[in-house]
Parts: sequence; C-alpha cells; structure tokens
Amino acid sequence: CSRRAEHRLVGLLLVGGRRTAGRHHLRRSTPRESTLPRRRKEFSCPPIGRIPRKLRTKRSNRDLWSCPTLCAKSPAVPLGHIIAMDGPAGAGKSTVAKLVAEALGYTLVDTGAMYRTAALVALREGMPIADGVRVAERLSSLLASKELVFEQTRAGVKVTYIGSDVSREIRSPEMARGASEVSQHPSVREVLVALQREVGKNGSVVLEGRDIGTVVFPAAKAKFYVTARDEVRAKRRHVELAQKGDPSTFEQTLAEVRERDER
Ligand code: DC
Repeated sequence: CSRRAEHRLVGLLLVGGRRTAGRHHLRRSTPRESTLPRRRKEFSCPPIGRIPRKLRTKRSNRDLWSCPTLCAKSPAVPLGHIIAMDGPAGAGKSTVAKLVAEALGYTLVDTGAMYRTAALVALREGMPIADGVRVAERLSSLLASKELVFEQTRAGVKVTYIGSDVSREIRSPEMARGASEVSQHPSVREVLVALQREVGKNGSVVLEGRDIGTVVFPAAKAKFYVTARDEVRAKRRHVELAQKGDPSTFEQTLAEVRERDER
C-alpha cells in the first residue's frame, strides 16, 4: 500500500449527506461534499501505519467515522453501511479491505475464501470442478446443515468443513486454481452470492471480491476499486507462490494473471 505508485485506489464515493434510519446518521453535507457522490475520484493509498489506534477504537467516532487515511478526501462513513472493495487478483484489495474494516470497526467478508472452499469441497468429495451444478447443490446443502461455516476472526476467515478447520488448506496454490475455475459456474456463483448477501445484509461490513459493487451489493454506500499493473500483481503473486514452494516462473504467473483478467 505504502509502496507508492504500485497501487491505485479508485474510489466511487457514493456516500451522501442524508439521514439514515436509527441513531446513526451521516454528517450534514456541505456544498463540496454534495458534489462527491457523482464524481469519480482517484487518489493513492497512504501508508498503512497512519491510522491512529485511538481513532480506531474511540466509541464516539464509531457512528460517525471519518477514516483518516482512505477517506481523507471523502465524507465520513457511518456505522451500518456496506463497503464494496473490488478489484482484480493480486491488486492488494485484501490488505486494503482489512485496514478499512479494522479502522471502521466493520466485519470483513473475504468472498474469495468462499470460492476457494467451493474448490476444496469439490476436490475432497471427488466431484469434477467442471460440474458446477453438482458443486453448487453440495455447497447449498452443506451451508443449510451448517456443516460448512465461515467465521471472520482477527486472524482472517475461519472455514469449518464437516467439523474440521480447512482455513489453511484453502490458501494453497491448488485451491487458488480450483477457485478460479469453479467461480466461472453461474450456479456456484448464485449460491455464494446469496450467502454474501445474507452475511452483509445488516451492514457494518467490508466485502472484498471482484463483483461486490457490481453484482452482490450494487447499492453499497461506498465502492472502491483497487488495482495495479498486471506485472506488479504477477510479481506479488509469484513471490507468494514461491514462498509456498510453488515452482512456477514469473512468466507463467504473469500469463496466469492475464488469463484470469480475461475471464
Ligand atoms: O481473492 P482470492 O484469490 O482468494 O479469490 C479466489 C478466486 O475466486 C479467484 O480466482 C477470484 C474468484 N473470486 C470471484 O470470482 N468472485 C469473488 N467475489 C471473489 C473471488
């Protein structure tokens, strides 16, 4: 994030100045702010360490939160809203989404983990990933019977599949590839989008994925698109994979990143 020009955060600032239900309401809009919702703003992401700890936790700040980093040039973001953090793989949206959720006291929803889990279920149960309908049906039944549970913890998402914690397994390169494939099936997307809507319906959430602002919650109050050049994304991904023992070369990773962008 702080490594300057590598990242761009394009924010569609949709926060207006009107009153919302209940105790929480937005700051009255000033003439300058009232022009923001329709304007597309582009600004670079400031250093991670700039969010003062006391501002992250101070109660009086929580229902009218003015984020000192991301929202430095935007209106206050109140408690209860849905924030969409979209962008291509490897752009750094997880890092940014985590920081935003932490700063606002919101719950982070890592939707990529759901697609990774779909791949894991298919592989563990011997289902071909190409059979999207079967995978989707199995996911539905596992979710309904609570044999598949996603919980957000401070350390990240915890995934429990038939009593065992598979949070680490879903991070493997194999599951990343499986997720990319399984996520192309409309029936699988339907099940997982419904789950994401259920999780986010009460607000106070930051949802991170590639279709949050367009499909899952198109009416989200704040939408951000985090992006970076494909070489930068491939470089980060290559280092990540190498640390996990994956022998792919940078060129292969770059080709993979470009191929994913095409999907
Ligand atoms: O962000 P990630 O690497 O954990 O995502 C895993 C895969 O799931 C990746 O190929 C993109 C896909 N995905 C998706 O299609 N829609 C989402 N909302 C989130 C992830």
